[in-house]
Amino acid sequence: MDLLRVEGLKAGYKGLNVLWDVGLAVKKNSIVSIIGSNGSGKTTLLNAIMGLIDVTEGNVIFKGMRINDLKPQERIGLGLSFVPSERELFPQMTVEDNLILGAYTPRARKHMKKSLKEIYDFFPVLGERSKQLAGTMSGGEQQMLAIGRALMSRPELLILDELSTGLAPAITVKIYRKLEGLSERMTVLLAEQNIHQAFMVSDYIYVLENGRIVASGKPDELSESTLIKSAYLGVKA
Ligand SMILES: Nc1ncnc2c1ncn2[C@@H]1O[C@H](COP(=O)(O)OP(=O)(O)O)[C@@H](O)[C@H]1O
Ligand SMILES: [Mg+2]
Repeated sequence: MDLLRVEGLKAGYKGLNVLWDVGLAVKKNSIVSIIGSNGSGKTTLLNAIMGLIDVTEGNVIFKGMRINDLKPQERIGLGLSFVPSERELFPQMTVEDNLILGAYTPRARKHMKKSLKEIYDFFPVLGERSKQLAGTMSGGEQQMLAIGRALMSRPELLILDELSTGLAPAITVKIYRKLEGLSERMTVLLAEQNIHQAFMVSDYIYVLENGRIVASGKPDELSESTLIKSAYLGVKA
């Protein structure tokens, strides 16, 4: 079953269209990556899926329902959750208070204690540092916190934008390994410029170039040259 489907999507910013006829499908309990060079439109696509920008044409379909007209909070209520590339934590608040902020939908609030425990089991460092200020955590720990906060809404689809940005390769690998474990319980859609990580964990990959999907397939179906050209050089394969 497709948990998420995007059909014929056209979207962008005032006076600048970025995405052209973008289509993709994300099967339940899979990990799907969108890869592409800087400026190819990855963040714009995730923003459109989350309802953070308007769509001019096409459909965003979640659990069989067209959600184009829903606000971001309503999409979170339905089971979407987003980790933006800037992480957007509150540095002067504790780890735990940052996590609690992720549980603001009625359903999430009801399960807050249970969610906190699950997240502390999943990322033990967050439990050990629950009373520490978020701003004093390392980059990798902050990324775990941003993911933990997104998990507090108990999503069915976790969407992550460039989680490797600013992290040491070893930390990035560690977090990706964690995501692999998550896909038993939920579905993951991520945008990455770092193709090696995406390649390692993904069930399916879409290559975005100048706002269009130019290739897609299982990692072993996509040639390395297609991936490298698209992700790093910004030229068509
Ligand atoms: N808030 C914005 N306003 C106007 N243009 C934007 C905005 N954000 C991104 N863009 C433009 O949209 C295009 C795609 O950017 P983006 O989606 O951020 O790509 P990526 O995430 O793949 O690096 C770029 O040309 C970028 O300059
Ligand atoms: Mg981006």
